[in-house]
Formats: sequence, structure tokens, C-alpha cells
Amino acid sequence: MIDKEQFFLPSHRLIAGNWKMNHNHLEAIQVTRKICLRLLEKGELSNRSVSIHPSFIALRSVQTVLESEGSSVLLGAQNCFYEPQGAFTGEVSATMLSKLNVSLVIVGHSERRTLFGEDDQLVLLKAKSVVANNMIPIICVGESSQERNDGSYKEFVTKQVISIVEAAPKELLSNLIIAYEPIWAIGTGISASLDQAVEACELIKEATTRAVGATKEFNLKVLYGGSVNTNNATDLLSHESVGGFLVGGASLDPDSFVEIVSSVR
Ligand code: 13P
Repeated sequence: MIDKEQFFLPSHRLIAGNWKMNHNHLEAIQVTRKICLRLLEKGELSNRSVSIHPSFIALRSVQTVLESEGSSVLLGAQNCFYEPQGAFTGEVSATMLSKLNVSLVIVGHSERRTLFGEDDQLVLLKAKSVVANNMIPIICVGESSQERNDGSYKEFVTKQVISIVEAAPKELLSNLIIAYEPIWAIGTGISASLDQAVEACELIKEATTRAVGATKEFNLKVLYGGSVNTNNATDLLSHESVGGFLVGGASLDPDSFVEIVSSVR
């Protein structure tokens, strides 16, 4: 269970490992065991939460390992469908995920937007279904190299954020994580600089506050994702505006993932 009061404090970081389409369920069991062991060796780690997001087929196995280890690592999913059940071949609902004690669900990852045609409207429906099932969505936004290079990236990211938060119900706004993942930094080895990450995280916070209005209560954590590794993690976390990471490639290896988790101060 997430203690939301603690979780949404600016000093509390979330380090989320998005395994994408990697690790079959046997590998996922081994990797989860190693992550638990490495974290145990580190002792008490304050000011942070850790989540791992295996593929759907490994969720049940990873859940079992985390529970048998008594681990505080949160279970996450990479996607969901917004209807609770029905004739939607190949889909997995947020309702089903919540039965596996999933706490966090990534929605609108750029790979889903570009490869599977997901738009802001679909992303919003998915995020709403996540919240309706008492989980927290990690909504991904971020520009391509084209918008970065032609200078329209601020407008682009703001528009993505506004389209979600303007139409978001109160329950979603009080449980919101947005991950800034510039497409040019994903899997390329070229991370955003600290200045670029901070600028985007602050832009997202300002755009959300403007759209929601000063009167409504909301909780927001903004993560950075894109080529985070053991070399750049400490620097990227040195500003409080960066609320944590959504880590791809470097989360596949338990040693590097736990080293990134350890870079939270
Ligand atoms: P990489 O860390 O491999 O660049 O991936 C980032 C990402 O897409 C996480 O969701």
C-alpha cells in the first residue's frame, strides 16, 4: 500500500523500472529475487519508493516473489485497457491488474503512442480506469527530436499535459504521476541534461497547476525518463523538481537498477 501523503512529498522520489518486452516469467522471477536481495543489502532506504513493471505474463510470478520476500518494492504494469471486462481480445483491464496488487500503471508510453496509435483521448480513458481501480497512473509525455530541434517542444509537451489534466476527474488529479520522457532520449544513450529535465518537469507542473486552478487539491509527481543510468542518475536527481525516474534499459539488470535506486539522497 502506498502512503500517499508521504509518496507525493517533493523530497520523496519514485524509481520505476519499465522492463518493456523483456524478461520472460522465469527471468523475471530471478531478477526480482536479485533486486530484493540487493535492496536488503543496502539496508533502510528512506525518501524513495521503488517499482518494477514486468510484462503482463510475468506479473503474477513477480507478485508472488515480492510478497514472499515481504518486499516494499511496488508492483507496476506497463499498460492496461479501460473497460473492466468483455470482448476485447488480447487486452488486460485495470480491474484485472488491481486483483494482482498492482499499484502503478504506465499509460501513454511513447512506444504505445507511436507503434500502437494511442492518442491523448485513449490515454485519458486508461488513466481514469487506473484511478477507478485504486491504482496510480504514470502518464507519459514527451517530444520527438523534431519538436526539440525546431523549438516547439514546450508547446508540444504543454498540449499533451493539458489535454489530460483539463478533462481529468478530481480522483485522477489527486493521484497523478507524469513522466517526462523525450523520445530522442529513449534507448539512445543520450539523456536530457539536468537543465533540460528540470525545465520540462517545471513546465509540466506549471501547466498542470494552471489548468487545474489554484482552488482544486491535487497531488502531482513528475518523473524523468530517457537513458537514465548509473552515471547520470545522481546528477539528474540533484534538483527537487525531478521527482524520480522511469528507467528502461538500465532497470533490466538488478545491480544497475539498485545502484540507481541508491542514488536518491
Ligand atoms: P531507456 O531508459 O532505455 O532510455 O528507456 C526509457 C523509457 O522508455 C522508460 O519508460
